[in-house]
Amino acid sequence: MSSNIAGKVVVITGASSGLGEATARLLSSEGATVVLGARRLDRIEALAADLTGAGGKALAVQTDVTDRAQVKALVDAAVAAYGRIDVMINNAGLMPHSPLERLKLDDWERTIDVNLKGVLWGIAAALPYMREQKAGHFINVSSVAGHKVSVNGAVYAATKHAVLALSEGLRQEVKPYNIRTTVISPGAVVTELIDGITEPDVAAGARKVYEMALPAEVFARTVAFAIGQPDEVDINEILFRPTRQEF
Ligand SMILES: NC(=O)c1ccc[n+]([C@@H]2O[C@H](COP(=O)([O-])OP(=O)(O)OC[C@H]3O[C@@H](n4cnc5c(N)ncnc54)[C@H](OP(=O)(O)O)[C@@H]3O)[C@@H](O)[C@H]2O)c1
Repeated sequence: MSSNIAGKVVVITGASSGLGEATARLLSSEGATVVLGARRLDRIEALAADLTGAGGKALAVQTDVTDRAQVKALVDAAVAAYGRIDVMINNAGLMPHSPLERLKLDDWERTIDVNLKGVLWGIAAALPYMREQKAGHFINVSSVAGHKVSVNGAVYAATKHAVLALSEGLRQEVKPYNIRTTVISPGAVVTELIDGITEPDVAAGARKVYEMALPAEVFARTVAFAIGQPDEVDINEILFRPTRQEF
């Protein structure tokens, strides 16, 4: 299963916490080289130090995914340091749920900038290298909210539906270049994601739903499963939930 992970150069956005951090730890333990992007440099530097201390290869590059030049610099740094990019994990995201009628326009804009445009900038940064290599793998993070819409989550769901559409379009277009595409749609997982909900009543509702949330390692294992397949096997979609999750 994991034999196709060792030695791969994997770039991860949103690597400073939650799903991204757990994925970096698991892939590193399986022999991948990980290049970590996020805004909180102290966090990704500490993680990189931890992984290299354990014998792995890791690089931290401060990255705001809303800035396309910074996302390009992240991927360029991976290629400069390690000669190639095998996997691009477009994971950075936020979920500031609120009812539309509260008109949290700044939250709407930020959600689109990070969850949708951030994925686009990740594709733009990595695709030229992968096309040249005639090999590569995009892993985009959607959500159960990419398949279903919930009250208070319209804008978030819109971005996650868009990530699904984008991933399917990408899948079809990169066939000639031998590039794999996977979109992963998690249900509730314990991370810092719900801390970003600023409306107290909405946050209280989310905390209730997240009582059943799964550990972040569950997500990391799905990533390892997709990467670890033989090159000719393209795992296109994974959707998982806690067994007790209704939504
Ligand atoms: N947890 C769940 O239940 C769940 C379910 C479905 C989907 N997801 C998706 O999983 C992904 C990861 O979220 P998580 O659950 O691991 O939450 P998290 O713990 O809050 O992690 C979010 C990550 O995104 C990064 N990020 C946010 N804004 C960024 C920006 N402008 N530029 C670069 N990085 C940015 C954060 O790093 P910095 O703040 O350091 O920049 C952090 O590393 C998201 O796309 C989320 O929508 C999560």
